Amino acid sequence: MNDTAEPVLSAHGLVKRYGSVTALAGADLELYPGEILAVIGDNGAGKSSLIKCLSGAITPDSGEVRVHGRPVRLTSPIAARDAGIETVHQSLAVAPSLDIATNLFLGRELRRGGLLGSVSRSLDHGRMRAEARRHLDDLGIMTIQNPKQSVETLSGGQRQAVAVARAAAFGNEVVIMDEPTAALGVRESRAVLDLILRVRAKGLPVILISHNMPHVFEVADRVHVQRLGRRTACLNPAVCTMADAVAVMTGAVSPDDLPASALAQGPTAAARQADG
Ligand SMILES: Nc1ncnc2c1ncn2[C@@H]1O[C@H](COP(=O)(O)OP(=O)(O)OP(=O)(O)O)[C@@H](O)[C@H]1O
Ligand SMILES: [Mg+2]
Repeated sequence: MNDTAEPVLSAHGLVKRYGSVTALAGADLELYPGEILAVIGDNGAGKSSLIKCLSGAITPDSGEVRVHGRPVRLTSPIAARDAGIETVHQSLAVAPSLDIATNLFLGRELRRGGLLGSVSRSLDHGRMRAEARRHLDDLGIMTIQNPKQSVETLSGGQRQAVAVARAAAFGNEVVIMDEPTAALGVRESRAVLDLILRVRAKGLPVILISHNMPHVFEVADRVHVQRLGRRTACLNPAVCTMADAVAVMTGAVSPDDLPASALAQGPTAAARQADG
């Protein structure tokens, strides 16, 4: 992370209402280059709604999303992908009966060159398998031995790994993950957390939605706390405790009551000190 960083992705004053229910009440978010931003909040705080606005799954009633400072209209998941934003949804969008390579390239299949590709639209399975292997190796996913294996035969953690690999392979700007470890055991969670760290190491910033405080505190650079449809604070997990984070999340403690060093609104604590 560098000190003068501009957000890669930001949201400003997002509002989303469903009839009389307000899911987002003027939500803001900033994601800086090279960071893992955790998003935490109680049930119904608007985390998923916020992420859906960023992944093109829903359109906010008002407010703005920007990529590198430029306003974008994410009117569909495809529009978000085109903007470089890849999302791993909690309900994994993998096709169980298809193999790993095909899942990785779903909707973005590689076609063969020449007439076979342009006329008969033949798929280049060999190249997709080789590229799939490369993407898996890139992220150190060594437990998957054969990209021809069907996804339904993989373990939960391996399936999650395929979904993360796909997002990391195609996300040019941002990878968003909604509760990636919620359904996983200890060992599989470990593997997915390592994977998230490797995505960051590749230079891609990550938004991680999670209820699991130990996971959040292990990997996050900053912690966005969502409460009653808006961001109530952004915390510095190097200074805050998990108890502080939970207290802010539930409203037991006001962010104003925390020391300034516990807050992390800007890119890094170091950057804030440099600025001010
Ligand atoms: N399609 C919808 N129709 C009606 N209300 C909705 C809809 N989607 C979300 N809401 C409401 O908006 C609020 C925020 O929901 P959201 O799913 O964003 O919360 P969340 O923070 O992701 O919660 P959780 O931790 O339980 O996943 C909730 O009160 C929810 O009931
Ligand atoms: Mg949710």
